[in-house]
Order: sequence, then C-alpha cells, then structure tokens
Amino acid sequence: MATFYVTTPIYYINDAPHLGSAYTTIVADVLARYRRLRGADTFFLTGTDEHGLKIQRAATERGIEPQAFADEVSELFRQTWPKLGCAPDDFLRTSSARHKRGAQAMWRRIEQAGDIYLGHYTGLYCVGCESYYTDKELEQPGGICPTHKKPAELVKEESYFFRLSQYQERLTRFYENNLRFVEPESRMNEVKSFVAGGLEDLSVSRTTFNWGVPVPGDERHVMYVWFDALSNYFTALDEPADNGKYWPPDVQLVGKDILRFHAVYWPAFLMAAGFADDELPRHVVAHGWLTYGGQKMSKTLRNTVSPVALAEAVSPAVGVDTVRYCLLRSISFGHDGDFSIDDVLARYGADLGNTLGNLLNRVHPFAVSEPGLTPAPDGPLETALFEAIVTAAREAAEAWDHVSPTRALEATWVGLAQANQYFDKAAPWAAKKSEPARVPTIVSAVVRALEAMSVLVCPVMPSVSAAMRAQLGLAPLGSAIGHDQWPLSLPAARAELALVRGEPIFPRFSPEKVAELRAAFTPH
Ligand code: ME8
Ligand code: MG
Repeated sequence: MATFYVTTPIYYINDAPHLGSAYTTIVADVLARYRRLRGADTFFLTGTDEHGLKIQRAATERGIEPQAFADEVSELFRQTWPKLGCAPDDFLRTSSARHKRGAQAMWRRIEQAGDIYLGHYTGLYCVGCESYYTDKELEQPGGICPTHKKPAELVKEESYFFRLSQYQERLTRFYENNLRFVEPESRMNEVKSFVAGGLEDLSVSRTTFNWGVPVPGDERHVMYVWFDALSNYFTALDEPADNGKYWPPDVQLVGKDILRFHAVYWPAFLMAAGFADDELPRHVVAHGWLTYGGQKMSKTLRNTVSPVALAEAVSPAVGVDTVRYCLLRSISFGHDGDFSIDDVLARYGADLGNTLGNLLNRVHPFAVSEPGLTPAPDGPLETALFEAIVTAAREAAEAWDHVSPTRALEATWVGLAQANQYFDKAAPWAAKKSEPARVPTIVSAVVRALEAMSVLVCPVMPSVSAAMRAQLGLAPLGSAIGHDQWPLSLPAARAELALVRGEPIFPRFSPEKVAELRAAFTPH
C-alpha cells in the first residue's frame, strides 16, 4: 500500500507563526490532503525547534526560563495550524523527552561509526540562522548575515565535529543517482555546486550556553541546534515506533533559506548513522520567500502578517480557504512572491466569486425538474465539457505529484473556466423555450462537473469543497486508504439531483470592507 510522509521544517519559537511559516505548513497540509484523496496512507509532521542560542536569548529578553518560554510559544504554533485548516498527524517539540532520546540515539550511532570527534572551533556564527559562516558568505564590510542583516558573531570554543568532509563523494553520487532529490532543478544545481566546492567538518556542539540536548557522555556540551533539529524527522516516527511504515520522508518542504541543512547535512548525518541510499529522504522541495513590502517576512525582522487575523478579517466562513488558495495560486511556487491584499481581493472576486461560486449559483435556477420530461441525450457540448474536466483533473494530479501547487491550481481553474463557458454556450435560459428537454441535460452536466471540481479544490479549500457539496446534495469528502477518489473519469450522472440552494459561498465585499482590509494589510 502506498504511503506518503510529508514534513515541514520545525519552526523556531522566537515569535508567533506568521504568514511565511504558514505558507510551508499549508503546502504540506494540501499535499497530505491530496494524497489522502488518492488513497495513500499519509503522515504529515510538523513541530517546533526549541533549542539554541536564539531561543535562549528570546527567553532572556522576556525574563523567563527557556522551557517556560518554549511551552508558551510552541503552544501558539500548535494552536495556529488547525485555525488555518491544517491537520498534522503529529506535532514534534524538540524539548520533549522522546525527541531528546531520539537525538541522543542518533548522535551515538554517528559517534560509534567514528564520524564525531572533539576539537576546537573558531569562526563566525549568525544566531538568527543558527548557522556558521565564512567571511566570503557574509556581506562586507562588517561581516553582515545576508538573511538577518546583522553582523555574525565570533565563536571560539571546544566543540565536537561531524566528519562532513568524508561524505562529499557519497553525497555527489547520491545526487547523481537521484536527480530529483532536490527540487526545483535550479536548487539541485545550487546544492551540487556547494558540495563540489568542498566540504569542511561541521561543528556540532556548543559549550557557552546550555539550552540544548546534552551530548551523550559529555554533558559540558549541548548539541548544535541543527543536529538536534534535523533528527526530528526520524525521531518523530521512532516513538511510538513506526516500524519503517512511513520512513523515509517522501517530501520535505523547506524554504530556500534552509536548503543546505536539508540537502547536505541531513543526508550526510543519516549516511553516517548507517542509512542506505534508498533509506534517505526522497525529495527535498525548496520554495521561495514570501515578502511583504518587498522584504522577506520574518520573525527576526518583525514585518509579519498574522495568518489567522488575515483569514478572520477576509471572512469567518471562507477566509481560511481563501488565504490558502491565494498563497498557493499567487506565489509562483519556488520563487519569491510579495503578499498583497489587493491580490487577495482580486482573486476572491474573480477566481473564487465569479468563476467557482458563480458556476454553482448559475445552475440552481434551472435545477427545477419538470415532471414527465425525458432529458435530451448528451451532445457535443457535453462531451467537450467532460473532456475539459477530466483533463483538468489529470493535469492537476500531475502537478500535485510534482509539488507544483501554482500549476495544479491553474489547471483546475482552466477546468472551471471551461465549465462556465459551457454554461454560456449551452444557454439553458434559451433552451428552456426552444428545447426544454436540454435543460435537465445541461444541469446534470454542470452538476457532474461541479462534483468533480469539489474534489479538485478539496486539498486547498476543504471547507469550500464541503459547502459546494452540500449545495450539490452530497456529503463532504472523506478519505480511505486504498480508495482513489480523484476524478480521472467523470462522476456518474445522478438520477435524482437533490440540489440544495444555499447562500453564495463567496458573497461580494462591500466597499467599506475592501477599505478596511486594505488599511489593515498594507505594509507601512
Ligand atoms: O529555520 N516565506 O526555523 P524558522 C516563506 N528551526 N517561507 C518562510 C518565510 C517566508 N518569509 N519565513 C519562514 C528554522 N518561512 C529552523 C528549521 S528544520 C529541521 C529546522 C518558512 O522558524 C520556510 O519554510 O526560521 C523556512 O524554511 C522556515 O519557515 C524557517 O522557519
Ligand atoms: Mg528563519
């Protein structure tokens, strides 16, 4: 039976989740929902990365202990995801006992393989990234971190090292044998050339602070936060034991800021811990940054938008689904994209209101069956519509399979636009007079198209899908392992339609509401 294991990065808890962290989590949730509809046994993991200097400092700023701080902010993350329609199967905290045991077990495996040794580290470190830097990677003058725009700090201390230099050859071979390990392709090339440039051993412990997982056997050291954090993807499945059911990850979503950790260090750690090549993660998929007013949206830069406040402000009923849709549709996946409230307003009106909602609204007035009327058989217009819908389903599936949300939604909306064009051409208002037997034929065709569309939009807009289906007289979609519900062929015609006319799903916004949204969500 097909399984699907998808992960998000575990987020730093230096501040509340924002639209940028939400973006990754929403993509992961959508992929999980898509795979579930396809019948795969699916596991979706997220969590919080709670150790390290960055968090210790954030706690000190607040004047509380790191653990108390972690408990508080981690809870904020845990509670946010369901408010955005995300349903992870597990939420891993790195300060949990089960994770610490797992990270220490991983450390021991690598140490026993001879790939960890004690030495001294001198170099530059950005606490915002929790990453070591060389002079040439920083902006000069001043040795400024390109992401956080702050000077890197000089670190000089005893440290354990991981023999990363020993893995250059095996990593290179692994990339060559797994051309799609990193996606998109341009990012794969970036990773390959980084590795081709030579790998130095990596400092994997710190002694100057103590908020971390103790190094087994040497408690003067805590693990480098990235060593601890990356192991989460494995430790989460270890307790309770997954027994190899979901491992390895099928898709690991990351922002481009942390690609190197996932595409170089992480597979090298696993190799050292004894994993064979076919036990390594299948795809690391890197997306771009969500910007706001042209700058990366970031907890550290504090130019964030609260995704929950945004969704609520757009609409208590469909705000969450609207935000999910707009992020995936408008941020061309893999590239940076600016969040803009005007874009949300435009898509709400056009894609959601005029295209999706309207198709449903248009069909209701014609869905009154006339007793004794035998519907006309399907004609060429219907055949063309059904082909368009099945093509949309096939192209969307192909795009989802390749983690291309923007393309998947484009394909879906081509199908919806064609369904609207069908309605224009079939013109039931005219047929009502000239050829009444066509009217139930047209209604049935549109209803079948809408039923298929309720499946296609479901991963991104689960509650809109349910609302559509309620109006179509259908139960919300569920999922079952082994049961593929993707409409690669058209849903069967129903003898009794039992449509339920409801309120428009995407009512027009008043000018006052538009002005309020613009005022609240425009960067200053
Ligand atoms: O890096 N646009 O955590 P983090 C798009 N704890 N995505 C964004 C974003 C933006 N403006 N801002 C954040 C860490 N993200 C580590 C990860 S994993 C073992 C440890 C998303 O809180 C994006 O996925 O800084 C990015 O990679 C991640 O949040 C970084 O989150
Ligand atoms: Mg970050």
